Amino acid sequence: MKVLVATQKPFAAVAVKGIKDILEAAGHEVVLLEKYAAQGELVAAVADAEAMIIRSDKVDAQVLAAARKLKIVVRAGAGYDNVDLQAATDAGVVVMNTPGQNSNAVAELAIALMIFMARTQFTPATGSEIQGKTLGIQAFGNVGRLVGAKAAALGMKVRAIDPFLPAESIKAGGAEPAATLEELYSQSDYVSIHIPATPQTVRSIGYELITRMPKGATLINTARKEVIDEEGLERALEARPDLKYVCDVAPDNYAALQEKFGLRVFATPKKMGAQTAEANINAGLAAARQIADFFATGNTRFQVNK
Ligand code: 3PG
Repeated sequence: MKVLVATQKPFAAVAVKGIKDILEAAGHEVVLLEKYAAQGELVAAVADAEAMIIRSDKVDAQVLAAARKLKIVVRAGAGYDNVDLQAATDAGVVVMNTPGQNSNAVAELAIALMIFMARTQFTPATGSEIQGKTLGIQAFGNVGRLVGAKAAALGMKVRAIDPFLPAESIKAGGAEPAATLEELYSQSDYVSIHIPATPQTVRSIGYELITRMPKGATLINTARKEVIDEEGLERALEARPDLKYVCDVAPDNYAALQEKFGLRVFATPKKMGAQTAEANINAGLAAARQIADFFATGNTRFQVNK
């Protein structure tokens, strides 16, 4: 089978080699489309592919319509908001992710961004320490749990909320369960967001929640920019000159935020949460194995459009 690895943001070379080794040993052919500039290149490349490995690459109805032989798309990573699941299902294409495989890299970045902001973006200005502060984790999945464990090891008090988890499970993961999202925000010096982008969560974090945060608090977003109501964020930062925002992937209004709020805001120049050799290897090789297994045995364990 022909497997297209389509990555606008390529995997580390060592991961690409591992992907090729696994798929070629299983008798498949690997074709690379890296750093492509226009969506049209993906549409053209997918025409004769039977399988695809992607990262945040956009697999929309147009791509799926062009992919007449496609049987399976594996998103090497956690979030699959970049795939049109309905169009894939309608086309009979199996969509999978590789949950947990890149979580540690994202969790380490969340901690790094927190310290970076506590130390006023590494300028000589007096900063603060995170030890003894409260971290609120919004969604206690693979990444949220890892962030919690690392923060606890750094001496932080860790609290969490997750609409899909009972309080006992949050306690078992080492965090104190918050009663409501509003209460989590109002009690946390730092809030770290780990929710997926879904119709329910898009633009769900805005002025009302952010202004509940206590004096000097920082909001950390290594999830998706779409979950933030950017206009609400801007108003909140305006109304509360003590609050800060740090994120992986800049909001659309980043230039305006930087101009107005200076060191109180920071966005990574390019989405880099999962951009480590380890995460690329873990997620990329898992994706390759899932494709090899799917064609060999029909295994659909990580299918997200069942
Ligand atoms: C994910 O959902 O797995 C992360 O956001 C990583 O995305 P990336 O593969 O585009 O870096």
